[in-house]
Amino acid sequence: MFFKNKSSNQSKDKFNDAPKGKVIAFLNQKGGVGKTTMCFNSAHALREKGHRVLCIDMDPQANLSLLFDVDLSETNGASIHHLMVNSVRELKSLHTPNLISDVLVKGDVDLIPACQDLSGFELTMAPINGPRQLILRRFLEKNDLLSKYDYILLDCPPTLGLLVINSVCAVDGVIVPFRPDDFSKKGLLHFYEMLEDVEDMGIVNSPKILAHIPNLVDNRRKQEELDLEEIRSVIIDKLGEDRLLEPFYNRAQLVKSQASRKSVYDYGSKEFKPLHQQFSKIADVIETLNH
Ligand SMILES: Nc1ncnc2c1ncn2[C@@H]1O[C@H](COP(=O)(O)OP(=O)(O)OP(=O)(O)O)[C@@H](O)[C@H]1O
Ligand SMILES: [Mg+2]
Repeated sequence: MFFKNKSSNQSKDKFNDAPKGKVIAFLNQKGGVGKTTMCFNSAHALREKGHRVLCIDMDPQANLSLLFDVDLSETNGASIHHLMVNSVRELKSLHTPNLISDVLVKGDVDLIPACQDLSGFELTMAPINGPRQLILRRFLEKNDLLSKYDYILLDCPPTLGLLVINSVCAVDGVIVPFRPDDFSKKGLLHFYEMLEDVEDMGIVNSPKILAHIPNLVDNRRKQEELDLEEIRSVIIDKLGEDRLLEPFYNRAQLVKSQASRKSVYDYGSKEFKPLHQQFSKIADVIETLNH
């Protein structure tokens, strides 16, 4: 074991009494809606509550790895891409000597970083016969990561490709940040269809939609208010009222903390308190997976 044992309120596995961690993805096929921002700060909010947290950067843009200030020379250039390739027996000829212990970056919150090679994930996996959508899930299982962490948070790319399908098939819950505009409503419907398609594959259960979070909201814009109202009714119709969280407004503190590669919890000043509370609410929602 390379982790200390800490008490937590995790659920129990059906077949043995060992606690089992939960996996959550921050998803939206649209770019720039706050997936990475929410993933990073929610991971720190869970850490503040005493949980063991791992983030996995599933995006070839590697923005989350950047926020963690990770230099890939720390991992000999390897990332989640190499670990997933190494976990597929059929791809033996592409295996690299990288071990998870070399790629895992330890900190208050641990990270498995991304690198640009991840953009070739779909092509790399094309020749395999096994289920291509279960590579990440099996990687997590084989490495026993669910018993080493209370929560594993995935930052997804802005697509609906194989990386996102792998994420959806590996998670217990999803969180969907969005910007309130006309495109978001169509995107949301498309997103629900994708979850239904995953369910229809009959291999895994579709994950629980834990929350939708309006982000970068500017309530001085009338049109935005109208769009948010429309999206709100789509979400409430589909999932009920409790799945729409309070909006995040455009906050200079988020820009400032990210520029310094810090979470909002690294700042004690009064101006950061409302953000602490908002991210702590996301952590509360994630904890409901254990109830
Ligand atoms: N509430 C906010 N207030 C101010 N800036 C924000 C807020 N949320 C996100 N940002 C900024 O908006 C930009 C996009 O956010 P982020 O990278 O988290 O989105 P994303 O959905 O992960 O994007 P991509 O799809 O490209 O991965 C970043 O520069 C981030 O700092
Ligand atoms: Mg991102």
